[in-house]
Order: sequence, then C-alpha cells, then structure tokens
Amino acid sequence: MGKFTIQRYLLFKKFPRLYDWIISVFGYKRAIGKLLNKFDFDGIVSDLGCGSGLLSIFIAKRNRNCRVIAVDESNGLLKILHEYTRNERIKNIDLVKADLSLGIPIKEDSLDFVVTSGLIEYIDPENLFKEVYKTIKSDGKLLVLVIRNNIFGKILGKIFGFKPHNLRYVLDLLQTSGFEEIEVMDMKDLKGLNKIKICVISRKTTISFRDKHTEN
Ligand SMILES: C[S@@+](CC[C@H](N)C(=O)[O-])C[C@H]1O[C@@H](n2cnc3c(N)ncnc32)[C@H](O)[C@@H]1O
Repeated sequence: MGKFTIQRYLLFKKFPRLYDWIISVFGYKRAIGKLLNKFDFDGIVSDLGCGSGLLSIFIAKRNRNCRVIAVDESNGLLKILHEYTRNERIKNIDLVKADLSLGIPIKEDSLDFVVTSGLIEYIDPENLFKEVYKTIKSDGKLLVLVIRNNIFGKILGKIFGFKPHNLRYVLDLLQTSGFEEIEVMDMKDLKGLNKIKICVISRKTTISFRDKHTEN
C-alpha cells in the first residue's frame, strides 16, 4: 500500500466509475491507443496498476494471441474492467488483485512485456522496477508512462493525490534495477499526451543483471 491520500481513496476505492469516466473524456483514451499502436505485443504481457483496464483492453483487443495479466489493488476498478471484458467478449485478460508495493504475484522470468501507467507516482518505483526486472524474461520489455514534473503534472498531482517524479530519477532507477536500452520515446505526434506523460521503454537483455555483476 502506497501513501494514503484522500484523492486516491475517493477515486480508486470509493468512486471508481468517476475515475473511469475522467479517463474516457479529454481524449486521453484515444491518445493512449495511438501510443500503444507503436509497439508489437506478443506472448504474456502484464499491465501493473491497470485501473479499469485502459491499456490492458487495448493490448488484448489488438493482439488476440497475447495474454494480458491485469493487476491492481482496487476491487472497484477491477470490477469495471471485468464488466468491459464480459461486454466486449475479451477472453485474453486475466485479472489479479494485489498490492504491488508488496511485490508482484507473477512467476519470475515469465513475462514478455510489462506496461505500467500512473503507478510509479503512487508506490516506490525503486522497489517496483526491481520486482519487474525479476518477472520479465530475458529480452522482455518494460514500458513506463511517467507523469511529467511540469505545471500539468503538478495540477494532475493535486487532483489525483500524488507528486510527480523527475525524469532523471526514473531513468537512473531503471538503470540501477538492471534495465538496458533505456529510451525516452518521441511523442511529438501525440500532442495532448506529450504534455502530461513521458513514455520510457527499456529492455532486460540476455546477460542477466546477476551475471554482469559477478563477472571478473
Ligand atoms: C492513475 S491510475 C492508472 C490506471 C491505469 N493504468 C490508467 O492509465 O488509466 C493508478 C492505478 O494504480 C493503482 N494502484 C495504486 N497503488 C497501488 C498498489 N499499491 N498496488 C496495486 N495497484 C495500485 C490504483 O488502484 C489505480 O488503478
């Protein structure tokens, strides 16, 4: 469980439908879809802090051969995601309720792709990235959407109850957790989204972190 804030309690626990409504207006949903279209998802994908399934649904619908493990601690948001999957007959999403600040309840070296949007602002990203590193297969990828630490990020932080991180801090954490090929994506074509979020993609390479640190 990350830090308690009243906004987090109200939006994710008490009124999850309000949160789901907020993300469906202002073009946010569409912009996330356009961003995810730039990637090929295959195999087993996990969406950490999935909320009502914005990323999970898009990935699962576009890539019917992949399986999406959608993880969140909010019963209310998972219930909404369950309703979407039932109504839209989406069969390749598994829902998992878990507090991700305590670890990721997924087998080590099992995931091909991890996506996470809006989670590292709520829980300790250092711990999260280390846990993600363990669950990803060699050559697997991690896509993190980071809220910009600018005026827009600060306003969103007040509404949603978090403090944005500096990008440098997030990039350093990814590196110390063992990720390589860390790249900040050019999102100039996604104007609205680009103002509030930064997309960072990284990879767990074939030489494991442990091997690299025990060389010589
Ligand atoms: C801003 S929302 C993002 C939801 C979704 N990824 C999106 O982009 O629309 C943050 C999500 O993180 C979840 N969350 C926050 N702390 C968590 C924790 N400790 N364990 C699991 N999920 C958590 C919340 O329940 C919420 O669904």
